[in-house]
Amino acid sequence: MAEFKKIAVIGSGTMGNGIAQVCATAGFDVVMNDIEQRFVDNGMKAIEKSLGKMVEKQKMTKENADAVKKRIKPTIKLEDCKDADLVVEAIFENLQVKCELFQKLDAMCPPSTILASNTSSISITRMAAATKRPDRFIGMHFMNPVPVMKLVEIINGLKTSPETCKAIMELSIKLGKTPIEVNDFPGSASNRILMPMINEAIFCVHEGVGTPQNIDEVMKLGMNHPMGPLALADLIGLDIVLHIMEVLYEGFSDSKYRPCPLLRKMVAAGKLGRKTGEGFYKY
Ligand code: NAI
Repeated sequence: MAEFKKIAVIGSGTMGNGIAQVCATAGFDVVMNDIEQRFVDNGMKAIEKSLGKMVEKQKMTKENADAVKKRIKPTIKLEDCKDADLVVEAIFENLQVKCELFQKLDAMCPPSTILASNTSSISITRMAAATKRPDRFIGMHFMNPVPVMKLVEIINGLKTSPETCKAIMELSIKLGKTPIEVNDFPGSASNRILMPMINEAIFCVHEGVGTPQNIDEVMKLGMNHPMGPLALADLIGLDIVLHIMEVLYEGFSDSKYRPCPLLRKMVAAGKLGRKTGEGFYKY
């Protein structure tokens, strides 16, 4: 049975720094890697801010927060990850870039190291096939913001071994998360259900069923969703929503996943949601 002491997180952006923080909070030694010093510095700053908030809210003592920070080693040298028991990848959502990274890690790490990806849409089976250890390759799909959200979708590739899955399920519980096991298919479970719902809400605006406000209110008041689908689309980023719809559309060759023309038009116009100041709402 795999025993985890040291965890490497590759990529120190939105997801990577959150994953590093959660692993260090659970007591693991963490290496957080990125390609440039300024990116790891930003990642550490985000972790400090998040820990600071927890101390403020008295969810953690100052001593504890300092100890968590000390357990994270920021680095721009990939070799620093070579003796990790688990590597969690959270870099750009690009198949080729991810496969190249996994090939390097596969050559560098001992055979016992488990490789995991936090991808939101790329096939685990395809990335695993780029390595010589598809049995010790798995998806760990954390949700944003990582320190807050309970779910980790554990995605089995076609060759992921039951032992690997069991070890990662147990580890996720130690991280304070609730792991849910699913099998590798385009969008897994979370995005396969969420994105078509958002896309359908966009069709409702496109066809004049209702205004964005009214569509969101229907889902909030009628279905008890904490946030309407269009406000959520703005939060996720319309470019990301479009990208995942394309992955579903191509992956299943099924027209039911076709992206709404209004979604394409808004992305083409640079209305990507919160990050550009405008999407279905203005920020
Ligand atoms: P981000 O753009 O905030 O961070 C990505 C980081 O990876 C950047 O700092 C970049 O410099 C670094 N990076 C790129 N290539 C690298 C390499 N070869 N080696 C080391 N570092 C490298 O992206 P974000 O949002 O954190 O997404 C990361 C992954 O997580 C993606 O696969 C995304 O699909 C997935 N994801 C994102 C969610 C979100 O809400 N943002 C939710 C769930 C999954």
